Amino acid sequence: MPHYGDYQHEIYFGGLLGRVPSLPVDFATLEARAAAALAPSVLSYLQGGCGDELTQRRNASAFEDWGMIPRMMVDCSVRDLSIELLGMTLPNPLFMAPIGINGICTQDGHGDLAAARASEMAGVPFMASTLSNDPLEAVAQAMGAQPGFFQLYTPKDEALARSLVSRAEAAGYKAIVVTLDTWVTGWRPRDLNSANFPQLRGAVLANYTSDPAFCATLAKPPQEDGAAVVGQWAATFGRVLTWDDLPWLRSLTSLPLILKGICHPDDARRAIDGGADAIYCSNHGGRQANGGIAAIDMLPGVVAAAGSIPVLFDSGVRSGTDVVKALALGARAVGVGRPYAYGLALGGAEGAAHVLRCILAEADLLMAVNGYPTIAAVRAAGAQRR
Ligand SMILES: Cc1cc2nc3c(=O)[nH]c(=O)nc-3n(C[C@H](O)[C@H](O)[C@H](O)COP(=O)(O)O)c2cc1C
Repeated sequence: MPHYGDYQHEIYFGGLLGRVPSLPVDFATLEARAAAALAPSVLSYLQGGCGDELTQRRNASAFEDWGMIPRMMVDCSVRDLSIELLGMTLPNPLFMAPIGINGICTQDGHGDLAAARASEMAGVPFMASTLSNDPLEAVAQAMGAQPGFFQLYTPKDEALARSLVSRAEAAGYKAIVVTLDTWVTGWRPRDLNSANFPQLRGAVLANYTSDPAFCATLAKPPQEDGAAVVGQWAATFGRVLTWDDLPWLRSLTSLPLILKGICHPDDARRAIDGGADAIYCSNHGGRQANGGIAAIDMLPGVVAAAGSIPVLFDSGVRSGTDVVKALALGARAVGVGRPYAYGLALGGAEGAAHVLRCILAEADLLMAVNGYPTIAAVRAAGAQRR
């Protein structure tokens, strides 16, 4: 039976033929390589975060505070990393978090399509962002048979919100992920120091310019007046959502509804009471609020409040070990963000797929060595503070 960990055999046997991996297998080297390769404006937006980036750093370093105890004499020669999520059986618990700058991470400007192809290559679902350089229909097509999710930045214009969601339904996405923490952009010194905000330069707006409801608000076709597109985008982006809006959000779709950005147990309970099908615990990788508490430290409280409702998690995941720790703390599925985008920047779809394969391989081998043959065993073992 093939296992994700077999990726290391591929690498070692390649070495016998004189081949070494063209991209690193660890995050630190990957990030350094991407930082050297990316245009400064893309790098600052991708790598940077809010304020002095304390939360962003803590998101990653807080994983060091959690550990797992290995169990011996358990036959882990066959491992099963599959999960049940929203009526689907998925072969592994990883997903690609939405990144609204994927489009310009690749030199050809079609990084969203490359991310979608990586998703199919690695067998890891992709959450396509509202902010995209290619329309969501083309992104869905590039995923092939791999299930994907559509992430909604809820616009002020209700007709546009409805249109984006119904396009996502028609394109075959399996769930709508509404991001709650980004009605306004957090204070991001790296981007402010270079006065750089990609959307205001017309990047990643293809879901708007391809949308009939958005185009109906323009005096001219979008290709004839780029400044008007940006102005209209800035005017409609970022609807302020309150709990009173949840019935309306729920009414937009019959697909499963996932609320992203929930970190407090009370918010998790409220979201579930209001009809959310899954909770997505995330602090946006420390890009929005610089509160200082790592997302992984907030996960156990959210999981406890969510009960049987699945909790997705991201923020600070840099390795397969981090993935297993998040699963042990109760996440049903774990999102990779910046790491796959660095892979995209360095090697397109193949680069991102390599990053995902490395993370899966490390997770699988950790489970093998630790005596956890299934995700249920990981969860039962749990993680402890060091
Ligand atoms: C450059 C960048 C752009 C992002 N764009 C979006 C987005 O369009 N929609 C969204 O919900 N989250 C977005 N996020 C947040 C990610 O979905 C995810 O929560 C975050 O990357 C996790 O943190 P990590 O990358 O440090 O692990 C973005 C993150 C980054 C780094």
